[in-house]
Amino acid sequence: MQNLETIIQQAQADIATAKNLPDLQQIRAKFLGKKSVLTDLMKTLGNATPDERKALGQLVNAAKDKIMGFADAKTLELQAAELAEQLATEQLDVTLPGRHQHAGALHPVTLVQQRVEAIFKSIGFTVTDGPEVEDQFHNFEALNIPKNHPARAMHDTFYFANGNLLRTHTSTVQIRYMKENKPPIRIISPGRVYRSDSDQTHTPMFNQVEGLSIDEHATFANLKSILQLFMSSFFEQDVQMRLRPSYFPFTEPSAEVDIKLTDPTHPLCGKWLEVLGCGMVHPNVLAAVGIDSEKYTGWAFGCGMDRLAMLRYSIHDLRTTFESDVRFLSQFGV
Ligand code: FA5
Ligand code: MG
Repeated sequence: MQNLETIIQQAQADIATAKNLPDLQQIRAKFLGKKSVLTDLMKTLGNATPDERKALGQLVNAAKDKIMGFADAKTLELQAAELAEQLATEQLDVTLPGRHQHAGALHPVTLVQQRVEAIFKSIGFTVTDGPEVEDQFHNFEALNIPKNHPARAMHDTFYFANGNLLRTHTSTVQIRYMKENKPPIRIISPGRVYRSDSDQTHTPMFNQVEGLSIDEHATFANLKSILQLFMSSFFEQDVQMRLRPSYFPFTEPSAEVDIKLTDPTHPLCGKWLEVLGCGMVHPNVLAAVGIDSEKYTGWAFGCGMDRLAMLRYSIHDLRTTFESDVRFLSQFGV
């Protein structure tokens, strides 16, 4: 009996020192398992008289129950401690900044193109396009710029070995469209053009938008009013416009258009800036595509979209729009 009491005390003390559940499992095995002191004690009962055996057996079982009680209580205590520890270490700091997704932004020239298309669609124009690799007929000849015409030199053209070229302006689309469609015609055609030219205001690739209207009564006054409407809607302010006489082989008369922004908060407010070339379509051009120039007249314009982007978004160096720097590009919104 005394032996049993010592064993119980020893078990209680050992159980109290268990630091975790595997520890406790070992201690439990030591006192209650198949090779434990208590099991050995049970085995020796065979030598006792039946009465002694019964009494001792009860005592040993009571001791087992006690030790199991200690172990079960300790199990609950260790499980609670483990849970508490887990909750403490796996805590989420909901005040940390999230790993959010970065929204992309459209390129300023894309934004310009979308605005231009929306404005012209709203007044009945169709948006069309043409190839960037062109032949000399569409880029020059049909536009009244025959071989050896001095205007070819102004274009700084990139040629391919077979005589084809990268189009130097979107006026090529005038020809392609007029060959396929009968008047009345009202189109715009935005797209990339190429010239062997590079400095702060010129890049070898840039973007133009062509406008073309062919009808029985297309006039220069009509062209001017459409351009005025376009500029005011595009810049969302009163825009002053001036037409300077100019020369393009494919229009007669021809003009270059300068605009002046009137919003005093705009850094370029009050300065005249060239944005486009325009004029009445030359009869030779209409003849080249089989349109009767006695019956129809037309006007056309070609506008630099990069320049519109610089003005609308106050971009100072045209080259920044080609450098793909996300810090620059992300300023322009979606
Ligand atoms: C032309 O390209 C004519 N095809 C425009 C035209 C169309 C006239 C229809 C008459 C009828 P020009 O080379 O001037 O013209 O270019 C037109 C516009 O494109 C310029 O006003 C300018 O805004 C823009 N531009 C011209 N060269 C560059 C360049 N290297 N970089 C950026 N923008 C340019
Ligand atoms: Mg020019």
